[in-house]
Amino acid sequence: MEKYIVHGGKRLEGSVRIGGAKNSILPVLAAVLLNKSDDEIVLKNVPYISDVIKMVEILRSLGVNVTWSGKNLTIYSRGVNNYSVNEVLMREMRSTIFLMGALLTRFGQVCISYPGGCAIGQRPIDLHLKGLTALGAQIREQHGYIYASSPRLTGGNIHLDYPSVGATENVMLASICARGITMIYNAAKEPEIVDLQNILNKMGGRVRGAGTDQIRIDGVSQLHGVEYTVIPDRVVAGTILMAAAATGGDVQLENVIPGHLEAVIAKLREAGVQIRAENDRLHILAPERLRAVEFVRTLPYPGFPTDLQAPMMALLCKARGTSMIIENVFDSRFKHVGELLRMGANIQVATDARTAVVKGVAQLTGAAVTAPDLRAGAALVIAGLSAEGKTTVDGLNHIDRGYENLDGYISQLGGNIERI
Ligand code: EPZ
Repeated sequence: MEKYIVHGGKRLEGSVRIGGAKNSILPVLAAVLLNKSDDEIVLKNVPYISDVIKMVEILRSLGVNVTWSGKNLTIYSRGVNNYSVNEVLMREMRSTIFLMGALLTRFGQVCISYPGGCAIGQRPIDLHLKGLTALGAQIREQHGYIYASSPRLTGGNIHLDYPSVGATENVMLASICARGITMIYNAAKEPEIVDLQNILNKMGGRVRGAGTDQIRIDGVSQLHGVEYTVIPDRVVAGTILMAAAATGGDVQLENVIPGHLEAVIAKLREAGVQIRAENDRLHILAPERLRAVEFVRTLPYPGFPTDLQAPMMALLCKARGTSMIIENVFDSRFKHVGELLRMGANIQVATDARTAVVKGVAQLTGAAVTAPDLRAGAALVIAGLSAEGKTTVDGLNHIDRGYENLDGYISQLGGNIERI
């Protein structure tokens, strides 16, 4: 199994360009199924990460013609001839759940295997199923599969109990060609939802309100081809900012949207870094040692993103003072704590498993650690960069899901990391 060898103590300096957003391209790849015409779809700035590679495999298994050319995908989806998502592929990547909405729109039926939980929680899909049912889908769950069918989906009002990103996307994909108007109340407001609205509208859809908690979809009869560039990945950008902050670095990020990182920038400034935002660039200058921050509370957008909770914890391990981290979004997203403790961190997790108290220590020491999930893996790399000595990080299959060449980014900034 491959692993990272990280030697800590090097200050990150220089500039890197951020790629396309994983959590944007995945629902966008589901949206290509909505195009029944012969038109071509070209997606640009596509990150070459394992979640995208898997999603492309799934689309091909459904009859979609997909070819890579550099960072672009050229897609023809007229030949889609299958509404059952391959179980093995489905179980490997639960975020294929929003294929339900797209396949229901395309075929009026869909069969997927029940997406399992994962390292960060149970990952229920009740809100997805409630939303699709409200649009007229009949849903049966048996033997680990979910069958959904509807002769023609009809618009309706959907009130999400929680502003679920995936459920919002699923309903958008299921209502885009439904008969009549669909309103989603308490919709997720993430930038990736806005990206999905933008591509759907460029394909001929009529979606308004993404980015707010109310989204209106006026059903249309058909969609057509499109050329589209997804937004930069704000989680990758935030991860690199935190790696810079953890090493007293001086780093410039290019191809970012600073407005997507307001909560992260505010929290890093609280920790004592200087950050300057201009157009599509961010510059961070960090002090030798950071200040602790009283609270980091993860919340739906525009709150502090849960996907950057683990990287933030890694950099607070050496901050001066005590920080409290409260994970409000997922039910078990502290699996990186045990690995950070091996590196000499001082962290206590409350019995609710949602609150962690991080007492800053003067030094972390390198150790052999294992990435338990995608963002925890990034956190361990950040800890290794700021630790004394050598850290080995295995479990790179998790990191490769969402980071295209993380070691390449860090090496480009002068960090001492290699993949063996
Ligand atoms: C998306 O997951 C992202 N994934 C996640 O990123 C991200 O952490 C999450 O949104 C929150 O921002 C993709 O976009 C592919 P949710 P999703 O539905 O859609 C509960 C990463 O590291 N919930 O907003 O699954 C759920 O259990 C990944 O890039 C229900 O209870 O997130 C969780 O507690 C990790 N019922 C909360 O809502 C449902 O039907 C947020 O989940 C659906 C969700």
